[in-house]
Formats: sequence, C-alpha cells, structure tokens
Amino acid sequence: MHRANQIVSGVLALLESEIREGVSTLELDKIAETFCRDHHALPAFKGYKGYPASLCASVNEEVVHGIPSHKKILRNGDIISLDFGALLDGFYGDAAITVGVGDVDPKTSLLLQVTHTSLLKGIEQVMVGNRISDISRAIQSYAEGKGFSVVRQFVGHGIGARLHEPPEVPNYVQRQASPRMIEGMVLAIEPMINLGAAKVKILHDQWTVVTADRKPSAHFEHSVAVTCSGPLILSERASLL
Ligand code: MF3
Ligand code: CO
Repeated sequence: MHRANQIVSGVLALLESEIREGVSTLELDKIAETFCRDHHALPAFKGYKGYPASLCASVNEEVVHGIPSHKKILRNGDIISLDFGALLDGFYGDAAITVGVGDVDPKTSLLLQVTHTSLLKGIEQVMVGNRISDISRAIQSYAEGKGFSVVRQFVGHGIGARLHEPPEVPNYVQRQASPRMIEGMVLAIEPMINLGAAKVKILHDQWTVVTADRKPSAHFEHSVAVTCSGPLILSERASLL
C-alpha cells in the first residue's frame, strides 16, 4: 500500500508542477494516467462505478468528482482539487490536494490552508484505541472554528484490497458511536471544506459535486495506516519516484 500511495503522491507532485493558466483538466488527466501506467500501476478511478477518467479534477465550486474535460481550462485565481487513486499489486492508494492557479483571493487561500491543516489535525488522532469520531471531531472543530463548513454527503473511508472499505471516516461527528481504530487499519482521511454553506448538489453528469451556493470548496486527502506507534502517512511524498 505504501508503494501504491507513493505512485499517487508522485502523480500529485507532477500535476502540481503542471498547474498554470491555460491548461485543461483533460491534459492533467493524461499526465496522471501516463505517470501511473509508467510505474506499472492502474488508475483506480477509471471505470470505478462507471467513472470515465483517471483523475478527479474539481475547479472552484466543484467539491469532488469533477470530470476532466478539454473544455475546462484553468484561469488565474482558480483553485483546483486533484484527487488520484492507484492500484498496484492488488492494493490501493488514494490521495488529494487542492492548489491555486496564480493569484488566489485571500479568503480562498485561507480555505486551502485551513482544509490542509484540518487533515493534519485529523491524522494526529490516528492511534490504536482512538475512535473514528476522534478524527471527525478534530477536523470539524478546526474547520468550523475558522468559519468554514464541512461537507456531510461525502466521507473518507477504509482502503486496502478495495478502494472503499469500512469504516466510513466522516469529517463531522455523528450521533452514533464509531468504531475504534486497530493496528493495521488503513484510512483515507479526506476533509471537503466549503467557504460558504455545507450544502452540495450533484450536476446532471451524475458525478460532479458542487456547492449549492457555488462558493469555493477545498479537498485534501491522505491514506494513513494505524500503527502501534501512531499514524503512518502512506501517501506522504518521500520522493522515491
Ligand atoms: N478519493 C475519492 C474517493 O475516495 C475518489 C473516488 S472517485 C471515483 O472516494 F471516481 F472513483 F469514484
Ligand atoms: Co478517497
């Protein structure tokens, strides 16, 4: 799983270096898929429940699952969430980042920073014996404390020999008790944080999730193993590639 995730982090680092005004999200999809296949892995999202591309590329008010298109061209001031999964030797890796294009307005820059920090706060709670809700609470209290809102319709997940495994990893605290973490679990922790209201909608393409108020949204994700000595971030870039 570490090797699968290192291919994912390699893809994300390469994509980040290619982000500039004038680039289409379909070009990014091609770059991602080529790098993945060159490293002997399969793009995990392609064909997953009929998803038509390798990369999820979600611009501005798009929260997650933006479908790459030659018509979607990056402009100065945009933000783009890049979410990629890889399958290597039977195991999955999954991670996401959100990056700005050129000059991003200060409130939106803060949204990116707060979403990234909320992910790190969630990861700090990854410990044998802690509950999933400890991760959820850390993310929610930090993001809401900064005045942003947490998307509820989509959640993080266990990951391993399948892309999505139990347990669900919500970014907000639910009423019912959540499972305790055990050694060897791997969790894809993925806060989706909105600048405006939490409510989201799915567009007519049946994939693209957008904020109902069309204000920007950010998404960061790591695949994290639960070990006896705390969190091990499998998708942390170690520049092995
Ligand atoms: N990182 C997302 C997830 O874990 C990506 C899934 S997109 C899909 O759910 F296209 F594969 F559905
Ligand atoms: Co995921």
